[in-house]
Amino acid sequence: MLHGKRKKIQEILQSGGVDKEVVVKGWVRTIRQSKNVAFITMNDGSTIRNIQIVAEPGVISQDVLARIHTGASLSVKGKLVESPGTGQKVEISAADIIVLGEADPEKYPLQPKKHSLEFLREKAHLRFRTNTFSAITRIRHAMIFGIHKFFNDKGFYNIHTPIITASDAEGAGELFRVSILDPKNPPLTEDGDVDYKNDFFGKQTNLTVSGQLEAELAALAMSEVYTFGPTFRAENSNTTRHLAEFWMIEPEMAFYDINDDMDLAEEMLKYLVKYALDHCMEDLEFLDKRLKDEEKSKKQEERSPMGLIEKLEFILAGDFVRITYTEAIQVLRNSRPNKKKKFQFLIEEWGTDLQSEHERYLVEKHYKKPVIIVDYPKQIKAFYMKQNDDGKTVRAMDVLFPQIGEIIGGSQREEDFDKLRQRILEMDIPEDSLWWYLETRIFGTVPHSGFGLGFERMMLFITGMGNIRDVIPFPRAPQSAEF
Ligand code: 4AD
Ligand code: MG
Repeated sequence: MLHGKRKKIQEILQSGGVDKEVVVKGWVRTIRQSKNVAFITMNDGSTIRNIQIVAEPGVISQDVLARIHTGASLSVKGKLVESPGTGQKVEISAADIIVLGEADPEKYPLQPKKHSLEFLREKAHLRFRTNTFSAITRIRHAMIFGIHKFFNDKGFYNIHTPIITASDAEGAGELFRVSILDPKNPPLTEDGDVDYKNDFFGKQTNLTVSGQLEAELAALAMSEVYTFGPTFRAENSNTTRHLAEFWMIEPEMAFYDINDDMDLAEEMLKYLVKYALDHCMEDLEFLDKRLKDEEKSKKQEERSPMGLIEKLEFILAGDFVRITYTEAIQVLRNSRPNKKKKFQFLIEEWGTDLQSEHERYLVEKHYKKPVIIVDYPKQIKAFYMKQNDDGKTVRAMDVLFPQIGEIIGGSQREEDFDKLRQRILEMDIPEDSLWWYLETRIFGTVPHSGFGLGFERMMLFITGMGNIRDVIPFPRAPQSAEF
């Protein structure tokens, strides 16, 4: 390669050390030219900070300079020198510049100005080149690493659970079908239904909505395991918190009851927030400032009382509140927005599911802390949750966060074969499709628990972004699968 081995901009800016020959490669963010000199700022994704290249016309030819615009890719060889300008300690005095790829300024969509997030979603192939998305991408990577570190340090084993499955773990019926049958002319049974016996797997299959059921099988031998995989839900929720394809972290632990489960969830969330503060401060400072600028355009009463970093530190400062569903309903029923009919869904009777407006009221207005709600009505929860003795509730727990609402959903699992089977029948789930799951309750069953953390919801919280489509590189949502 011409110019030889490159150094990452992050490394150069961190080590300082002027008067060294360096080679950097990256993409032009801005170029300012005058008669005597050109200033080019360049970024290579290794840090939020750009490096400034100073190109003197006597050294770099006008032909080369004329080909450099925002978005072009360059290889620059030069000397690292102290910068007389403000804004950076060091800069590169260019000895040679090779234009690797030009970017036509008439056509390149990203100009050196603020673009709206909506516009950038339509340019997802290029938005990695913005400060906001490169910061999010680095944080996303760090969080993935932090999650694996958390579980590895605790002796959990990572399990790859299947992506193609024949079960609907959550029972919500929001499945993406996986099939190789001809949609125009599928084989039919005598009753006129599609005959999936002739499909690839000989049965109806779908993309997984959760790796939990298979993680349970592993936990009932390996004790403590976790999956971290993609999950798919065909729910038609066009919200800022739902994706059709998202990533979920699902630990599953033998010998844990619901309290142990909540303890682990709280410990993990705090660990991840601290991991971000310890490893991503530069990017968080950038996003904090970005959020403060955005807040300025909002009305006073809509502004968040805390900055991003403050909000993250606040999570570490105290214990999460733990209440039962029944207590939550009492608080909500007596709340101002319920009495003044401000909630879109009014809380009237015990048994209704909580909406994100209720969850956020509890966290942001009432308790002003993350809240864990436990012991939900069994009618609104999945078949596998451990039934309480009251006959009405199950040992489910949801962790609610400010701005997000539900960030984790989990439960103690029903380990009693008869109770589990009865619930499966009550809920009209075909028993024979879960024979393997049921069998673990016949052979050496034990109390066990687990939960699922929506990775992108965690990313929303850590980055302070307002729309889940901006914390995953290529969002999948209703009517949206470009790129
Ligand atoms: O509450 P959920 O549906 O729980 C489960 O899937 C369990 N099997 C988890 C377990 O116990 N192992 O989903 C878990 C979390 C939610 O709390 C939320 O953070 C996230 O997954 N989530 C979504 N995130 C983005 N888009 C969606 N459509 C989501 N649906 C759930
Ligand atoms: Mg849930």
